[in-house]
Amino acid sequence: MPRTLREVVFVDGVRTPFGKAGSMYAETRADDLVINCIRELLRRHPELPADRVDEVAIAATTQIGDQGLTIGRTAALLAGLPRSVPGYAIDRMCAGAMTAVTSVSSGIAFGAYDVAIAGGVEHMGHHPMGEGIDPNPRIVAEKLVDPSALIMGSTAENLHDRFPEITKGRADAFAVLSQQRAAQAYADGVIQPMLVPVAARSVEHGWGLATADEPPRPGTTLEGLAALKTPFRPHGRVTAGNAAGLNDGATACLVAAEDVAAELGLPTAMRLVSYGFAGVDPEVMGVGPVPATEKALRSAGLDIGDIGAYEINEAFAVQVLAFLDHFKIAEDDPRVNPYGGAIAFGHPLASSGVRLMTQLARTFRDHPEIRYGITTMCVGLGMGGTVIWENPNHTDAEAAR
Ligand SMILES: CC(C)(COP(=O)(O)OP(=O)(O)OC[C@H]1O[C@@H](n2cnc3c(N)ncnc32)[C@H](O)[C@@H]1OP(=O)(O)O)[C@@H](O)C(=O)NCCC(=O)NCCS
Repeated sequence: MPRTLREVVFVDGVRTPFGKAGSMYAETRADDLVINCIRELLRRHPELPADRVDEVAIAATTQIGDQGLTIGRTAALLAGLPRSVPGYAIDRMCAGAMTAVTSVSSGIAFGAYDVAIAGGVEHMGHHPMGEGIDPNPRIVAEKLVDPSALIMGSTAENLHDRFPEITKGRADAFAVLSQQRAAQAYADGVIQPMLVPVAARSVEHGWGLATADEPPRPGTTLEGLAALKTPFRPHGRVTAGNAAGLNDGATACLVAAEDVAAELGLPTAMRLVSYGFAGVDPEVMGVGPVPATEKALRSAGLDIGDIGAYEINEAFAVQVLAFLDHFKIAEDDPRVNPYGGAIAFGHPLASSGVRLMTQLARTFRDHPEIRYGITTMCVGLGMGGTVIWENPNHTDAEAAR
């Protein structure tokens, strides 16, 4: 049977405010966080009949407890989607939600789905990194990877070793910039529309409403960062200030076939161009975005010079700087994370990919002069993922339709 690939569009994305691990969401279930996001997407898009959703792919790194039981399916049921809507759980650690998006998008392009929901959740308070894992002893015994590869902060220290020109001073300066940009984005009202308020319960404080991210530290200074401990290595360079923290939060987005979005009257925030995932040495997992981006560019027939906006997940400042150095982009380039990144907002692992996309969609809305943008992130055990998007508001993109 001859097949025609279909164009895929990102319709809309939302997220919960991110919390510090086990803080404002200490007594909130992880699945409820992502259910809130799905409900909000349906509320914002009454033009989408719920039974037109063909798939719900939800990522979590730790798939047990309140993140277990095939969370895509349980979240779909609990969000009030018809029982006819299927769902599944997905895991690629930090790139979980990104992989959820690329997976359902591929299904849309193939013709298996018209409309899908993709997202992710990580409650690192309920599920600390590494909970319940039982790594095969061969991984270390046979020296398949160095033991440091299993501790993300140590991989960031290794990256500083590999690129000594990326000093702690540069990492700290990048962290200050991230905090300043996040504070500015809040002041400009850029972040608030992306957030779904969450009713959060606390035995101590009663019911409250989470309406803003908890981790940002707008008062961050270079002097303050210089004084912090380096928990992953004595006299190291990675600190709580130039790394993303441990966080709780969830994201979700709507993706659709472009023709179906038009039929239903759904908006088009971004058009999917290409994506790439790549493996690197697990000891320096932070360089993953470099080959992933090269792959995605190659498959799109684009060059890094064609990219006008970047959303790079800031797991660690050193890892963003390694990417920027590789592509010869200045570390304070206004095209890079213009609204701040994970160092300020936090990084609830499997959820973050859709936060990047939601922020890029906002950049596209505000900057019709930008045609292509990238969302990219590093992934534990030595991987990177990159998705390239086209701005439908760009005049050339419009003409090419
Ligand atoms: C780095 C890490 C170990 C820090 O954890 P933590 O010690 O619980 O972090 P805290 O928030 O308590 O911060 C530690 C200290 O730094 C201070 N601090 C943090 N950010 C700061 C900032 N921007 N400016 C000034 N001080 C700051 C805190 O106030 C705290 O000070 P205190 O010890 O006097 O209370 C943890 O955030 C981590 O593991 N991050 C990486 C997560 C990760 O690997 N993700 C996956 C990526 S692939």
